[in-house]
Amino acid sequence: MKKKFYFGTNTKMYKTIQNTVDFILRLQELTSDISRDEIELFVIPSFTTQKDANQVKKPELMKVGAQNMGWEEEGQFTGEISPIMLQECGTDLVMIGHSERRHVLGESDEEENKKVLCALNHDFTTLLCVGETGEEKEYGISEEVIRIQLKKGLYGVTREQTEKLWIAYEPVWAIGVNGKPASKEYAEEIHRVMRETLIELFGETAGNRIPLLYGGSVNPGNAVGLSRMEHIDGLFIGRAAWDADNFNEIIRSVLEKR
Ligand code: 13P
Repeated sequence: MKKKFYFGTNTKMYKTIQNTVDFILRLQELTSDISRDEIELFVIPSFTTQKDANQVKKPELMKVGAQNMGWEEEGQFTGEISPIMLQECGTDLVMIGHSERRHVLGESDEEENKKVLCALNHDFTTLLCVGETGEEKEYGISEEVIRIQLKKGLYGVTREQTEKLWIAYEPVWAIGVNGKPASKEYAEEIHRVMRETLIELFGETAGNRIPLLYGGSVNPGNAVGLSRMEHIDGLFIGRAAWDADNFNEIIRSVLEKR
């Protein structure tokens, strides 16, 4: 049997509580016949939706994640949400270092590292996002940037903890309405570098086990091609997945043709 393929969406600052609940219910209904040995499905909605989203999710069908997390259990961190608060909502997964957090909201690799350690220490599935800017790509330093983001972001993570670690490669220039999707060949090359770096950090077995997802303008036209690349284990989708029917169609087209 083929390796399990990962499909997820980050709904950014878009869906209300009701929109999120409707989306999750519809997505579960549409995909319930697909074996979860074949796919891992996850949805990452905003903080305010966490409790309701987790109440309507069927754990055997999907994981629900948070888009960010503070790195302490409590303290003087106005505006932050702690791991304890997310556990209280039933959240399964925490995304760390999304490009919009890094580049719009100014987070550093050092901060992402504190969050990654905190998320893993609280037993969350932890999705670290990495990706170079258009300028860094222009300078020809994409691979170096990715290696640095991985090495700094994962500093202090133990081999055992990698069982709950996922990585998403989301080139900044490929994300969102003004983004231009990475070609499957380019994405594959960066995924290969990520795999190499993870093996260097955690050894063959653990390094090979960590799922690597591609994100950045994934759409019905490029999803299948990307999914067929050797080092791409999943697709992390924004706009093209925010309608459950469209998301379901992408999932099925990938499963049919990969
Ligand atoms: P788009 O698919 O809309 O480019 O967004 C990708 C993304 O940021 C997922 O986290």
